Amino acid sequence: MVNLHTSIGSFQFNNVLMNASGVHCMTAAELDEVAQSPAGTLVTKSGTLQPRDGNPAPRYASLELGSINSMGLPNKGFRYYLDYAIAFQAAHPDRPIFLSIAGTGPADYAEMAAVIQASDFTGLTEFNLSCPNVPGKPQIAYDLTTTEHILDDLFKVFKKPAGIKLPPFFDLAQFDAMAALLNRYPLTFINSINSLGNGLAIDAATDTALILPKGGFGGIGGAYAKPIALANVRAFRQRLRDDIAIIGTGGVTTGRDVYELILCGASLVSLGTVLQEEGLPAFTRLTQELEAEMTAKGYATIQDFQGQLKTL
Ligand SMILES: Cc1cc2nc3c(=O)[nH]c(=O)nc-3n(C[C@H](O)[C@H](O)[C@H](O)COP(=O)(O)O)c2cc1C
Repeated sequence: MVNLHTSIGSFQFNNVLMNASGVHCMTAAELDEVAQSPAGTLVTKSGTLQPRDGNPAPRYASLELGSINSMGLPNKGFRYYLDYAIAFQAAHPDRPIFLSIAGTGPADYAEMAAVIQASDFTGLTEFNLSCPNVPGKPQIAYDLTTTEHILDDLFKVFKKPAGIKLPPFFDLAQFDAMAALLNRYPLTFINSINSLGNGLAIDAATDTALILPKGGFGGIGGAYAKPIALANVRAFRQRLRDDIAIIGTGGVTTGRDVYELILCGASLVSLGTVLQEEGLPAFTRLTQELEAEMTAKGYATIQDFQGQLKTL
């Protein structure tokens, strides 16, 4: 029998799998369903200061090897998710939960952080610094100076366990610079990666972009993202302080994909496009496939192979 127990800081989880923010987590009913699945934990949709309708549809499309989306951060407002998380922890004291937060401008982060700090929430807060889909706004995490200002302001008010969600990086100098910056802050975790920003997919029958917002440009998830996600988790694991855990996100469609993200150093693995496409049964299938892979490799626990990638 293999054991999928894992931990982040002092938080314990009985399965490495969770949903990725934005998928099956918009409403309390959806969050409850993830909680009742085999997932080890759950994260809310990224909440903003005010509720948002997001971009006009069609804003998500399935692709041959994944998905494209430009949702525009539709959400019920961060207070809705904060209330849910506080009620959840009261009902399930042994099941830590993640609250995801997104700013529509740099000042929003510290403002929401102050409210969470003053609340009864005792779980983990994920500050999403990678939101590719608000038209006209750059991705914060691609701007080191803005990222530094946000983190400075944030950690002045926020003393609870915190992490950040990062976009993919593609250059070793970017990994060096971002990791050096992040190592200066009391982060409990990072989550890597968000969607590959600004892809384009075209309907072959009509020669038309598949989604409406932004002239068809949108974030790419699913199998397309896997090599990038592996590299990002690996690169940050090699550069971040040991006490900053990594949630591996991106490109999971099989148990082997989950295994490889752990091999690169992930402590938890989240499911985006595969959960959107297959629904909650994805948790059962991937749990079984991960257990089979671990058994085939002779491993009994996650810690047996976490971060143990071999190189030539
Ligand atoms: C429909 C949709 C909505 C998303 N919304 C969010 C979000 O609100 N916050 C966030 O941090 N990431 C969001 N993401 C990104 C996912 O959490 C994940 O990082 C990305 O899809 C890569 O994982 P995947 O390859 O498993 O899809 C969203 C992704 C999709 C497909």
